[in-house]
Amino acid sequence: MIILGINETSHDASVSLIKDGEILFAGHAERYSKKKNDWYVNDELITNALSYGFPDQIAYYEKPLLKASRLLLKGGQSDWKPKFIVDNLFGKRVPVKNFKHHHSHAAAGYYTSKFNDACIVVLDAIGEYNTSTIWVGEGETIKLKYKQNYPISFGLFYSAFTQLIGLMPNQEEYIMMGMAAYGDWKKYYRKVDEYFPSYSKQKYNFHKGIVDWEDLITEQDKFDIAAAVQFVYEQRLNEFMHMAYAITGKTNLVFMGGCALNSSANTALWDIFSDVWIMPNPGDAGSSLGAAVALYGKHVNWKTPYLGYDLGGKYPVTEIITSLIRDKIAAVATGRAEYGPRALGNRSILADPRDPNIKDKVNLIKQRELFRPFAPVVMAEHASKWFDMKFESPYMQYTVKCLQPERIPAVVHADGTSRVQTVTKEQHPGLYEVLSNWYIMTGIPVLLNTSLNIKGQPLLNDHNDIMKWQEAYKSKIIGGFNEQ
Ligand SMILES: [Fe+2]
Repeated sequence: MIILGINETSHDASVSLIKDGEILFAGHAERYSKKKNDWYVNDELITNALSYGFPDQIAYYEKPLLKASRLLLKGGQSDWKPKFIVDNLFGKRVPVKNFKHHHSHAAAGYYTSKFNDACIVVLDAIGEYNTSTIWVGEGETIKLKYKQNYPISFGLFYSAFTQLIGLMPNQEEYIMMGMAAYGDWKKYYRKVDEYFPSYSKQKYNFHKGIVDWEDLITEQDKFDIAAAVQFVYEQRLNEFMHMAYAITGKTNLVFMGGCALNSSANTALWDIFSDVWIMPNPGDAGSSLGAAVALYGKHVNWKTPYLGYDLGGKYPVTEIITSLIRDKIAAVATGRAEYGPRALGNRSILADPRDPNIKDKVNLIKQRELFRPFAPVVMAEHASKWFDMKFESPYMQYTVKCLQPERIPAVVHADGTSRVQTVTKEQHPGLYEVLSNWYIMTGIPVLLNTSLNIKGQPLLNDHNDIMKWQEAYKSKIIGGFNEQ
């Protein structure tokens, strides 16, 4: 049976296609429409997905009427009406089944994991009513064990402060997380803590933003507030996760929802649980796959996050190495696009991490703020010599201390940490070969890896995007892609 999963009417629409436990396709609407965090699926995305098969069933990631009832009763801003006419796909009626927002998150995590039993935690801003849920996964069954409803919300707390310091809520939380390293958490700790004193108690409904902050906010205050918010968030997360462990008694954790994108906070999860799985697309964009696998109701064969638009071609190992030696930077677009917010080698800018000036150069190319850090990609077997980590991080989901910052200054943040991507040969043979060659030449098994995009724009997706980039910036993208 072929199932098409859809998520839209939230930030970051996406679709996924699965067939009998195999994931055929998963892609983001924004990569096709070029509208960052696009709320709606589009014809180009659907056409691309359906080139892999026509669905027998459609799974939708929310219960629209339930969400509408919350909006009606409790307020909040959202366009809840799905624009995609899911029950009349291309003129052919396809049955549609809806799943609750948190159920889709939980299913996306558990059914893509290797676990046969696990504690599943979902934390986000809000779906229909639920904001925090705990589930138990056993065999092929997931059961809800705990729920907390709107307006108490980990995600809304974080987003409200993102807005307070002048960033876009629901979009630029990751920038505030990066800013935290430059701030002093102690300055605003007490004040911020009063807004979220325990995981089940908050000062008021953060959907309206922070409405009673009277202190003047200077440029440095923005960093200090970010540090305090990150500190308080990590404390509440820690308490919630201990409670989840106590309720479920499971030592494996599946963590999903937009909050699972907070890589600085995620590292401490390994102190509570013996194994952790965060699907590489844990936010709402991952819920098209979540709805599809919820309908399938069994584990799927998770192999790779490279599930989107296919440029074709072979990984251009030699060209990348040549460019790294000549220019210290290599822009790469090849094969299938990543499903998730991180570029993991197929739509990436790779660079020499030894050069302290490379960070500014890449930030200028991407038109980002100069304080923004970059992440390293490292051969998995060398990771523990360069970073303080005892686990693999194939999808750049954990921030850890760098052990040799003087040798790779371009990928170390202001607080001495790095958001690491580990790579094995099995995971990505081409990228692994690039790193192996780089290691032989330099003695460094690490490269800088960042997404191939301009700040505020989606990652490059197809041949057209590559041509436009090359024309606009007069710089070549190395593509192991087939000609159109
Ligand atoms: Fe969500």
